[in-house]
Amino acid sequence: MARLDADPQLPDDLAGAIRRCFDALAMNERFRLLPALLLAERQVTPERRSGNDYIARLSVPDVLTLAEQMERRSSNRLLRENPEANLAVVAALFGPEDRVLLDASAHRSLKDACVLARVQVTTFPHNNVAAVERELRRAPAGQRTLIVVDGLYSMDGDLCPLPELVDLKRRYGAFLLVDEAHALGVIGPTGRGVHEHFGMAADAVDVWTGSLSKAVPSNGGFLAGRRDLILYLQHAAAPFWFSAALAPAAAGAALEALRVARREPERLVALRRNADALRTWLRARGYDTGNSESAIVPVLVGDDVAAWRLARRLFDEGVLVSAVVHPAVPQGAARLRLCATAAQSAADLDEALDAFDRAGRPAGLA
Ligand SMILES: Cc1ncc(COP(=O)(O)O)c(C=O)c1O
Repeated sequence: MARLDADPQLPDDLAGAIRRCFDALAMNERFRLLPALLLAERQVTPERRSGNDYIARLSVPDVLTLAEQMERRSSNRLLRENPEANLAVVAALFGPEDRVLLDASAHRSLKDACVLARVQVTTFPHNNVAAVERELRRAPAGQRTLIVVDGLYSMDGDLCPLPELVDLKRRYGAFLLVDEAHALGVIGPTGRGVHEHFGMAADAVDVWTGSLSKAVPSNGGFLAGRRDLILYLQHAAAPFWFSAALAPAAAGAALEALRVARREPERLVALRRNADALRTWLRARGYDTGNSESAIVPVLVGDDVAAWRLARRLFDEGVLVSAVVHPAVPQGAARLRLCATAAQSAADLDEALDAFDRAGRPAGLA
């Protein structure tokens, strides 16, 4: 959610507003990542470039530094994007004899990874732990089962029930993959993700995947887990072998963003304050924000066209909010997706929410 500073017809203003809209920790402003990006390009020597594999798959120092900065988990590997990481894990480790239990709201790339891996897929209702247990109990002896969830759901703003899922996977001998695309940088006291939020060790989960294109405003995906597992994936997963590596500029920008996030915890504090203010205001006025407990705050509308109309009315009021419709969400569950960021001032929020009221009340939403 962002205020449009000037004439919204101007593409530059719109592009700026869109950048601010999804920039949870306010890192894009003032182009502070640009120097890091240029530096990263300069650091890549011609010898490394000639290999066409100069930063992601080989354990070159740049990658190790980036991986260490990202998280002190036992091991990390970088890919060009989060969906590649999901495919790398599911297709390299599981096949047609195995089963995936997939949360109904899991990201599309996780569903696609299951299709490409040709695993048997059972979808369970969103965050329904009892349904997961029912399925685990029903599994034929000897069948391997992978539970697949998002850490933070991008259209609902709620978290996976990590403690319960870890308990189930241990009791039934299953495996657990958590996609942290939206959680990295914003969930947990220092932004390390859902395990930090729940006070759990990172190795309670078998494999983590995630994106460097959300709170970390760059491009790229990563996977993290036990060292031997990641080493195996580095040699067994198709995306490591058959795709170009992550560009050094993207790795450099991600590294600098992680440094900024660590150095300036006040960004996370401001983000939480704004998210709480946004949610409290909307709920107090009767808007349905579902189970949001993060900087992603949906306002449930229902009908696709009604959601588009409301987004348009807000746009006319000078507020940019994205409408989310089928197939990104189930039919009849269209919504506006408001995103708090650390950059929003109290005045920005007041102004945006007043506009929201003017646009939302006539639509019968509150
Ligand atoms: C859970 C999840 N995984 C993966 C992705 C895609 O990641 P990337 O931006 O690296 O392509 C998204 C994007 O919104 C996501 O929400």
